[in-house]
Amino acid sequence: MSAVPIAETLHGGEFLTVYKPDVLIFPTPEEVGRYAAQTVQEQIVTKPDSIFTFPTGSTPIEMYRLVVEAGLDWSRARIKNLDQYYRIDPLHQASYAVDMQKNLIDFINIPPENWAIPNGIAPDPDEEAARYEEVFAEYGPVDMAVLGIGPGTTCHIGFNERGSQLGSRTRYMPLDPQTRAANAKFFDDPRDMPEGSITQGIATILEAQRIILLAIGDHKAQGILRTLEGSIGPDAPASFLRYHPNVTFILDAPAASQLTISRN
Ligand code: F6R
Repeated sequence: MSAVPIAETLHGGEFLTVYKPDVLIFPTPEEVGRYAAQTVQEQIVTKPDSIFTFPTGSTPIEMYRLVVEAGLDWSRARIKNLDQYYRIDPLHQASYAVDMQKNLIDFINIPPENWAIPNGIAPDPDEEAARYEEVFAEYGPVDMAVLGIGPGTTCHIGFNERGSQLGSRTRYMPLDPQTRAANAKFFDDPRDMPEGSITQGIATILEAQRIILLAIGDHKAQGILRTLEGSIGPDAPASFLRYHPNVTFILDAPAASQLTISRN
């Protein structure tokens, strides 16, 4: 499947095509996880040396569980994670490196050098962001990016908070107060919640050949509505996905509950 072009729009002096993304709505979060896992599995079976961009957090956990269960061959694949908190020790209980290891990396046969995530304790975040932007670039574009969406009205993808521009690349990004409030629950001591992150930029993410965005729960409904039916711009960074020709939103019914436009 791929998205249908529906309009041309002027953005920053350039005409861009706006697409109508595919939107799939499932009754339960488990079905979102199952469909997402199948999509990832089809990708790796079709192209065993695929490069993936993956998210962390609560939404993709079921997808990873099923991907692990499928026991596919990851020996030629590469994974370039979306983001990491800054500053955080990669060994910290709530770091995204640990999150990935305990949900996926420790259970698949991916060679260690084929998995990358920004270094949360790099001395200079700008240098680390510039280094990370280039990771795996010599192997070509990312084949499939899997995204979540931020809480409330953030509409973040990766950690591209409101104000992020279409042309943004991997960089240091301060976290929105809504993101800090939502993610503090992952920290044994919520006071350890970092203030910033290193994230792939919007332009970096949009270079992926195919993008799927997963959202589950009614706390994502407002952001999904804003992303799919509001204007495209930096006050809803996920809305920039509508400039990409191959994006699928995979939602459960509560996350889709505020959508008004027919999706057929
Ligand atoms: C995490 C990331 C974020 C999350 C988003 C949703 O790597 O890039 O954009 O996907 O904050 O988080 P959850 O799934 O915990 O609701």
